[in-house]
Formats: sequence, structure tokens, C-alpha cells
Amino acid sequence: MAKSKTLEVGALPYDEFDKSINKYNGDPTAIIAILQDIQDHLQYVPKDSISYLAEKLNVSPAKIYGIVTFYAQFRLEPLGKYIIMLCEGTACHVNGAKLIGNAISDELGVKGGETTEDGLFSLEKVACIGCCSLSPVMVINEETYAKLTPDSTRKIVKEYQKREAAAQN
Ligand code: FES
Repeated sequence: MAKSKTLEVGALPYDEFDKSINKYNGDPTAIIAILQDIQDHLQYVPKDSISYLAEKLNVSPAKIYGIVTFYAQFRLEPLGKYIIMLCEGTACHVNGAKLIGNAISDELGVKGGETTEDGLFSLEKVACIGCCSLSPVMVINEETYAKLTPDSTRKIVKEYQKREAAAQN
């Protein structure tokens, strides 16, 4: 299917969208697979991609928006530079994961599944990440933080903020 000339091509990788649409021969019933391709590529589904797909697949933007918001796997906003994965598995839960989550939310002003306005931090609540003996645990990007307390968690988050502030000066 050829790219529509009426569409404004901005910073989004419309060629990648087209590749996925073509892979499924522009079949509107493949919309979930196409959205998964987009999310695999960008880590989220940009709002602007919805109107593009709607036109290409000849379905309403509302239908695509409904799918994206219905399935928890899809994200409409990009992830932050630092992805905080807070474990909410049984061991972490028993050892205070909720308090750790509250401390992160207090510091950053975000709940699970949200990203700070400055785009630096995303908070994701996840199931057991396999190091229960160190619970409660969180992972920030590749770094694992164990046996957390609300205080140590705040300190860790503040360290990241300090590092970022220093890097910007
Ligand atoms: S329950 Fe958190 S690491 Fe297993």
C-alpha cells in the first residue's frame, strides 16, 4: 500500500509504520499486530500514529484509540530515560513494596504506569523479578536495588535526580 501524499510526514518513522501495514497487506483485522510492531519499534504508540493508521487501514481513529487504551500492553506516552521497575511479587509485597511505591510516588509525583513530566522517570510495577531473598527490590534500568526501605528509596531516586541536574549544568 503506498504512503498517502496527504499525510504530513514529521519526526515519526512512517516508513516503519508502512512496513508493518504492508506485512499484513493493509488488513484492518491485523491492527493489534501492527500496533505491537509500532510499540516494539518506538517503545510506545504515538498519538499521531493513530490517525495515520486509521487512514491507511480505513478504520476510525476512535476504534484504534479504543484498542490502544483497552489493552494494558500498549502505551501512549514514551518511557522515561530511567525506568523504575518496582517488584510487587509476593515476597516484595510482604516486605513492604507498597511503602516503597509510595516513597517513589511522593518523590516523583507519578503512579505506576506513569512518566514524570520532564521525561526522566517511568514507574512500572512488575511481578517477581527473581531475587526474592533481597526483597523489597526495584530495578532502575540495569541496576538492581535490594532490601529497600522508604528512606533508602528516596535517597536512590534523589541521587538520580542530582546526577541529571549535574549533567545539565
Ligand atoms: S517477589 Fe520481588 S523479587 Fe521475587
